[in-house]
Amino acid sequence: MTAASPPTLQGSLCTLRPLTLNDAPSLQRHADDEAVWRNLFEGFPRPYTLVDAQAWCSTGSRAPAMGHVWGIEVDDQIVGCISLRPDAGWLRCNAEVGYWIGQAFWRRGITSEALARVTAWAWANRPELMRLYAPIFAWNEGSQAVARKCGYFLEAQLRCSAIKDGRVIDRVQYAALRSR
Ligand SMILES: CC(C)(COP(=O)(O)OP(=O)(O)OC[C@H]1O[C@@H](n2cnc3c(N)ncnc32)[C@H](O)[C@@H]1OP(=O)(O)O)[C@@H](O)C(=O)NCCC(=O)NCCS
Repeated sequence: MTAASPPTLQGSLCTLRPLTLNDAPSLQRHADDEAVWRNLFEGFPRPYTLVDAQAWCSTGSRAPAMGHVWGIEVDDQIVGCISLRPDAGWLRCNAEVGYWIGQAFWRRGITSEALARVTAWAWANRPELMRLYAPIFAWNEGSQAVARKCGYFLEAQLRCSAIKDGRVIDRVQYAALRSR
């Protein structure tokens, strides 16, 4: 079963759109990077092969459990991803956001624009959502800066809350609330 594709969201620095199989080579080039991998959940592949990218661009990113996944397109190529994954059942007023972008595109304001667009889309199109949250590795200053820039606030210190590369690590959690 696959989820409905999210709509294309146009920004001034990037376009957010559903992934297609043709995006796999570009996605793989940007994802296969230790500097990206070290900040992402343990299941993010390393090395990130073309087969991994093809699987993600076809069925993986469309699996209902993934929620909504957009590729981040800059200069006609996919250079990263951003996702919005609603929780289920009695927690369905929450959704987790996640994002990454290839190192060649860091510090150009692109991810901040992408997160701002997805956040605005969630409030406008998912009336059940009241809270968006982003768990972030505690050392990841860049990701925390992106979250703050988009109006998310630090809501929790999650000490010893994840294992990355065999090490127990601290995370922090940022959140944004629907204004009522
Ligand atoms: C973290 C990441 C998403 C930032 O993306 P980006 O497109 O470079 O971020 P932006 O250009 O939108 O920057 C937003 C703000 O963060 C700051 N920032 C970005 N990277 C930073 C870093 N490494 N350290 C400190 N601040 C940083 C920018 O200076 C900017 O602040 P400013 O507007 O006040 O100058 C990107 O580095 C990345 O994908 N890293 C690897 C994967 C990852 O960490 N994903 C997030 C997992 S929670």
